Amino acid sequence: MPIHKIPVIAIDGPSASGKGTIAQLVAKKLGFHYLDSGALYRLVALKTMQSHANIHDTNLLASIARDLHVVFNQGEVYLDNQTVTDDIRAEQCGILASQLAAYPQVREALTERQRAFCQPPGLVTDGRDMGSVIFPDATLKIFLTASAETRAHRRYKQLIEKGISANIADLLQDIQKRDERDSHRSAAPLQQGADAKLLDTTSLTISQVQDTVLSWYNEICAKNSGLNAK
Ligand code: DC
Repeated sequence: MPIHKIPVIAIDGPSASGKGTIAQLVAKKLGFHYLDSGALYRLVALKTMQSHANIHDTNLLASIARDLHVVFNQGEVYLDNQTVTDDIRAEQCGILASQLAAYPQVREALTERQRAFCQPPGLVTDGRDMGSVIFPDATLKIFLTASAETRAHRRYKQLIEKGISANIADLLQDIQKRDERDSHRSAAPLQQGADAKLLDTTSLTISQVQDTVLSWYNEICAKNSGLNAK
């Protein structure tokens, strides 16, 4: 494992696997920056809908992605100075994000923007290609997953807690469709890299998952400091 100046923990995995929750908790614990890369794809989708852009015009979509005026501040997301934190979480936005994310031009347009989040003292990031494409030299790469049924139940609970009505069968179908599209596209498909550690959270609590990630990270730091001392 290479020794880096700025440590990066890259957490990739399918929709509703809990990557965002875990990445944020770990970032807080370590005092690191946090990048929710899915939010960027969702913002491109929102801007595309707002501007009624043709969702097949890849040059236009790439320019939307490149020119996004976005601010992330204390859990809030602003697009063109408007709060869009909840808007980008809408199911429709997630579905369009997954479609637009299949275009290499859109991915390319977001690459440098994502890398710019790598600032001292470190970064925790989650998405689909954080370890494979955006931060290939990440200190720790994790593929976080859970069964589709477990993910549908977790999403259901989240929605009900927010007072939003939901149906488990529909959620499961959406998750399966999204998995299919995100894993089978040709540009940066979602898959567990050979150098990523698998973390199946189906029967784990949030704090067990958080502790596992932190202990893996601490192991790497201890190993690297041993190498530095030699
Ligand atoms: O993680 P999420 O559900 O917020 O992401 C929304 C969509 O964006 C997801 O279906 C696929 C796409 N995405 C991607 O292709 N690459 C990433 N690094 C993050 C998200």
